[in-house]
Amino acid sequence: AKVHHYKWDISYQLKSPDCFEKLAVTVNGEAPGPTIRATLGDTIVVDVHNKLETENTAIHWHGIRQIGTPWADGVAGVTQCPILPGETFTYKFVIDRPGTYLYHAHYGMQRVAGLNGMIVVTVPEGFVEPFSYDEEHTVLLGDWWHKSVYEQATGLSANPFVFVTEPQSLLINGRGMFNCSLAPSGTCNASRPDCALPTLFTAVPGKTYLLRIGSLTSLSSLYFEIEGHPMMVVEADGHYVRPFAVRGLFIYSGETYSVLVKADQDPRRNYWAASHVVGRNPSQTPSGKAVVSYAFNGNNPWMPPPTAPPAGPPWNNTAIRVDQSRAIFAHPHFVEPMPARADRTLLFLNTQNRIDGHIKWTINGVSLMFPATPYLVAMKRGMKDAYEQRPPPDMYDHMSHDISAPAPTNGTVGSPVYRLALGSVVDVVLQNSNMLNNKSETHPWHLHGHDFWVLGYGEGKFNPAADAWRLLNVRDPIMKNTVPLHPDGWTAVRFRADNPGVWLFHCHVEAHVFMGMGVVFEEGVERVGRLPSSIMGCGRSKGLH
Ligand code: C2O
Ligand code: CU
Repeated sequence: AKVHHYKWDISYQLKSPDCFEKLAVTVNGEAPGPTIRATLGDTIVVDVHNKLETENTAIHWHGIRQIGTPWADGVAGVTQCPILPGETFTYKFVIDRPGTYLYHAHYGMQRVAGLNGMIVVTVPEGFVEPFSYDEEHTVLLGDWWHKSVYEQATGLSANPFVFVTEPQSLLINGRGMFNCSLAPSGTCNASRPDCALPTLFTAVPGKTYLLRIGSLTSLSSLYFEIEGHPMMVVEADGHYVRPFAVRGLFIYSGETYSVLVKADQDPRRNYWAASHVVGRNPSQTPSGKAVVSYAFNGNNPWMPPPTAPPAGPPWNNTAIRVDQSRAIFAHPHFVEPMPARADRTLLFLNTQNRIDGHIKWTINGVSLMFPATPYLVAMKRGMKDAYEQRPPPDMYDHMSHDISAPAPTNGTVGSPVYRLALGSVVDVVLQNSNMLNNKSETHPWHLHGHDFWVLGYGEGKFNPAADAWRLLNVRDPIMKNTVPLHPDGWTAVRFRADNPGVWLFHCHVEAHVFMGMGVVFEEGVERVGRLPSSIMGCGRSKGLH
């Protein structure tokens, strides 16, 4: 196994990914940052030098379980103190699975400002994957706002509340399309070389490509498609799936998929690759566009495709999105044996609440706010006054709660922790409900430190007493680290709490987790090895080592 050592300077730079000029948080001057490439079992070392001048940072390695290194998970407030301007923090961890993963800022809403990228982990020599291909491309999808992260965060915490509304553009590998005539003069220049041309994917006629697709949108659920080229889905969040064909792929923030695409179309012309917003009405957000160009004598890679870009599916068709979720099973040769029953069941109802005049998200009535001292330090060192001691509720009142009505009660803001017995099996049923505006929307939930089995998706209210359990797939469930909770429905997952540490479980919509939509799990914290003093220094961990 190899050690890959990176030195990253994190700084603000003026960027114009969609031709509108804006300050973006960059890695060594780039946004998105470089793709980390490694092989299973390799060690990654990243020296992160915060050169943001006036802003803290922390970086999360999304999908890496951090077995034995919970302090390297990169969540400011949970696993470490934020990295202060001028400081350098070293992340060191072992890559524990092959597959496609992500990294991004995990400090406040900083991910919105551009710090993100992909991690590609190949299988060791001699390991045969259940599919084959000739070459691969990475496809990182995002959404992009012209407002700064400060304006967005300020609006979300203001009274009256100001939502982030819609993104101005969708990015594909850091490039987007925006009509500059809509921007104030001097702020947008459509002829800048770094934005005028879309991302180009080159294809050799007859070859099969593995596209490693990841989404790190702040808000948007997406549909990604390539004109005239169907996709065969083969991997999800680092796990092989029973291959299934799609015309395009629904993908939620925090998810990754690998798909096979055959370059078997007329090589003399170019094709659109496009991302579209689904789940929310994209009234002002144009589709993201890239171009697939065949390496073929006489074909001009910069020639726009002769056809109109694909329009994508209707944004409000939830059923077809649920259908895709339900089509994902473990590959028959790679079914990971699942414990037959859970030791504990958590029923998590999300509601939007008004708390002291502010709009918050709560889970079973609690809106999560990180304490000043990172949980990992506080819990490992037994600092009982550093976070809320009262445990949060395992269940909501599922008998009487009406999920089609907004929350009846106010809820509270707090920092409690679900303490899980080390090695125990936990079922979580995520239950959606209506927001204050009486609508229900998609929430992609991401679990740090673990993969979970996806037991199933249902409509309406999950009733733990009745046959809802029988709808669940216990035979060949896929394992993932991020799963959508669809509008007006529920999603059930199972995991083994076998990774000593403190782990965040949250909605991957940046505005939602900022408004409290998450919970914290602890398991076996007493078994965690000696904490590096570099994660300390804030709150009650000042002066500790
Ligand atoms: Cu990719 Cu806690 O997130
Ligand atoms: Cu959400």
